[in-house]
Amino acid sequence: MAIDYTQRIPNNVDLAGDRRLQRALENWQPRFLDWWKEMGPDGTTNFDVYLRTAISADANGWANFGYVKMPDYRWGIFLAGRDPNRQIAFGDNKGKPAWQEVPGELRSTLRRLIVTQGDTEPASVEQQRQLGKTAPSLYDLRNVFQVNVEEGRHLWAMVYLLHAYFGRDGREEAEALLERHSGDPDKPRILGAFNEKTPDWLSFFMFTYFTDRDGKYQLASLAESGFDPLSRSCRFMLIEEAHHMFVGESGVGRIVQRTCELMKEHKTDDVRSLGAIDLPTIQRYLNFHCSVSLDLFGQEASTNAANYYTMGVKGRYLETRLSDDHLLTNATYDIDTAEAGRIVRKAVPALSALNERLRQDYLEDCAKGLLRWNKTIEQAGIDFELKLPHRAFNRRIGAFADLHVSPDGKVMSEADWKAGEGTWLPTAEDRAFVTSLMGPAVIEPGKFANWIAPPQRGINNQPATFEYVRFN
Ligand SMILES: [Fe+2]
Ligand SMILES: [Fe+2]
Repeated sequence: MAIDYTQRIPNNVDLAGDRRLQRALENWQPRFLDWWKEMGPDGTTNFDVYLRTAISADANGWANFGYVKMPDYRWGIFLAGRDPNRQIAFGDNKGKPAWQEVPGELRSTLRRLIVTQGDTEPASVEQQRQLGKTAPSLYDLRNVFQVNVEEGRHLWAMVYLLHAYFGRDGREEAEALLERHSGDPDKPRILGAFNEKTPDWLSFFMFTYFTDRDGKYQLASLAESGFDPLSRSCRFMLIEEAHHMFVGESGVGRIVQRTCELMKEHKTDDVRSLGAIDLPTIQRYLNFHCSVSLDLFGQEASTNAANYYTMGVKGRYLETRLSDDHLLTNATYDIDTAEAGRIVRKAVPALSALNERLRQDYLEDCAKGLLRWNKTIEQAGIDFELKLPHRAFNRRIGAFADLHVSPDGKVMSEADWKAGEGTWLPTAEDRAFVTSLMGPAVIEPGKFANWIAPPQRGINNQPATFEYVRFN
């Protein structure tokens, strides 16, 4: 269904056909805009940004490019098309028609899942609020703004579900999504990683690589949900999400490339003195963002995850492409967990291991970008390899939270871990150095900060020299 842009809230859900809902969302809209102005990208109200906006939810309409002032971005409600024959693919309700309304007994579970997902979307906008001031180029500036407006739209996607299907509770939750703020000591965001700072562009690229990818895996498993409106929302969000991970992968890749160029040209490891980021620092940032993002998947063995699956509300990654009984009542799954102070591998009921299984899918996906980054390093003739940290490293949640484990998976005493910490995680000095590279935004078209290489190609086939943002 084409998106109706004649409405105050663009949508492809026939909002005009439900006056009550339309009015409720039109009441929420100015509060969202107030939030955007207060907590969104700082000082950008008047910028013309070369953004993509969806004009329909099908393949040829979702990426339409043009200059937009961000507060005028057409945030709206876009669901992927409905398959009238869709069935629930897993759990106790497998084979039944997908739910078009919320089953009463699943109400609070679904609401909690939607709120938790929804909370991450504005949180990341808040985390990235100051980045525009130190953008390494107009190209990168445009990319962070694109990510920001789309996270704003993802908030809309979840708020629509809350308003449309959860009555008064849903409306209250929608308000609360604008009241919690990233890092706020009194009203923090729900999940830990979304209360961390994103103070510099290396952090931003690592965040979009690792933490937005957690988003991809959460959305993909919610896209399998038996609750069809949630599934269709997530399917469309996943299309937008891909760009965020592209920004992360190419951003880290361009930093690695620039570092390698300088190492080769000057025959030195000391690229800090040349104003670039050394590979060990990149590795430490990687270790931090990867481990923090791994926590987002929850406990290794989880009865919640088992219940979500059995009830049909949250599936596995690409559930319908897996070939098993989609009930998992008799299946087992091997997980790494902690027992008596060690890491042990053991078979557990597959239902209780669903978080860990999703984390495993996620880690395999994470590894792909590292292959490409390492190829750049290898091609420069440099003997260094970026590695994913062991899944037990630096964890706050789950079975490994009480263990002290090095990035290569060695269990050790707290004292030894503390002694190694500064070589594994960004130190205050690393952060100060990276911050020192973040000069005033580079705003001349085609120019890039010294510590990052230009992209291979621009956005929407535009050249890297394109004027992606116009300041007025
Ligand atoms: Fe998102
Ligand atoms: Fe994202």
